[in-house]
Amino acid sequence: MAGIYLHIPFCKQACSYCNFHFSTTLQAKDQMVSALCRELEQRRDYLGGDKIDTIYLGGGTPSLLNASELNILFLKIEELFAVSPEAEVTLESNPDDLSHSFLTELLDTPVNRLSIGIQSFFDEDLRAMNRAHDAVQSHSCLELVHQMGFDNFNIDLIYGMPTLSMEQWQDNLLNLNTFEVPHVSCYALTVEPGTALFHQIRKGQAPDVKDDKMVAHFRALVEFAEENELLHYEISNLARPQKLAVHNRNYWFGAPYLGIGPSAHSFNGQQRSWNVANNQKYLKAIDQNLPYQESESLSEIDQYNEYVLTRLRTMWGCQINEINKWGEETYQHFHNQIQPFLDSSHVRREDSTYRLTPEGMLLADHISKELFMT
Ligand SMILES: C[S@@+](CC[C@H](N)C(=O)[O-])C[C@H]1O[C@@H](n2cnc3c(N)ncnc32)[C@H](O)[C@@H]1O
Ligand code: SF4
Repeated sequence: MAGIYLHIPFCKQACSYCNFHFSTTLQAKDQMVSALCRELEQRRDYLGGDKIDTIYLGGGTPSLLNASELNILFLKIEELFAVSPEAEVTLESNPDDLSHSFLTELLDTPVNRLSIGIQSFFDEDLRAMNRAHDAVQSHSCLELVHQMGFDNFNIDLIYGMPTLSMEQWQDNLLNLNTFEVPHVSCYALTVEPGTALFHQIRKGQAPDVKDDKMVAHFRALVEFAEENELLHYEISNLARPQKLAVHNRNYWFGAPYLGIGPSAHSFNGQQRSWNVANNQKYLKAIDQNLPYQESESLSEIDQYNEYVLTRLRTMWGCQINEINKWGEETYQHFHNQIQPFLDSSHVRREDSTYRLTPEGMLLADHISKELFMT
């Protein structure tokens, strides 16, 4: 079980809320594809020959690459790594890129899953987010994706936007049924420092995000999932049976992954490393064989804290036998700290598994912090 992540650090325009690493200057696209191939070669031993069962192209906007550019990357990966024939190969795509001709080209690549950044089906939200697509494209790209036979895909939705009423959020959720969406990632809008949204709110040019709206939208999501047999398998991720994402699951289960490209993170079980989040610095370093990475080793305490942070967010929860691996003292700490959340019904225990209840999911970060060891 291992994964490869490639970061494609380009976007047509900056969405108001986004602080992922990307550049809106696309000139260096060819150079970047070559550099990603060079990095794959340099780090071919990182996963120690493990079988690759997921390849994920994220960004930025990977759908800005054409099929030949994508195939250059896939051929290089197949040349250097043991890729499982059943590997999940996901391409993050923006609705405005998903034309008939682009999807036709994609049929000649190994891509077998799309993750589409719909965000909302309403123009008012999309304008406030400064998205490059409109509501018509939100609808039409999903029709096209079905017509072209892509039956494994995810859509991203954002809730809690000041422009998004409860009725509109419920309409966005109903579209999961209308368009037979197999997997959805629903994110609460976060105001990240340095983004356009952050500055707009500070200057009073945009309304601030309200906690009570977030909570109401999240509860509506939980209700919708229950009524429509969507498996709420992680706080932000829901899927139809058999459509859970391998990429996401590997990540939460601590499987090793190699992250390629500017700002990409890698993990090999004990050590985490991350590439410089600057396209020019990355290209120069790859070209001149200079360092472009920093890393940290995870102590036993870090590993326990990461386990709690990631697994508590999932339906698999925290397991007693796994926590016991960190010794009696850690288990006692976990046991004592989780008790108040069992009493308040934010956490439920079934046999040897502790899981968040839907109300607990709203407090996930706080509960994890209380469980952390220092
Ligand atoms: C790395 S982005 C890239 C996806 C793709 N470029 C797109 O925009 O469609 C992945 C997702 O994170 C979510 N996201 C990014 N910033 C966010 C924020 N500040 N609050 C909530 N969701 C956010 C969006 O739903 C976005 O689709
Ligand atoms: S949300 Fe996607 S398209 Fe928008 S700036 Fe971020 S990475 Fe780019």
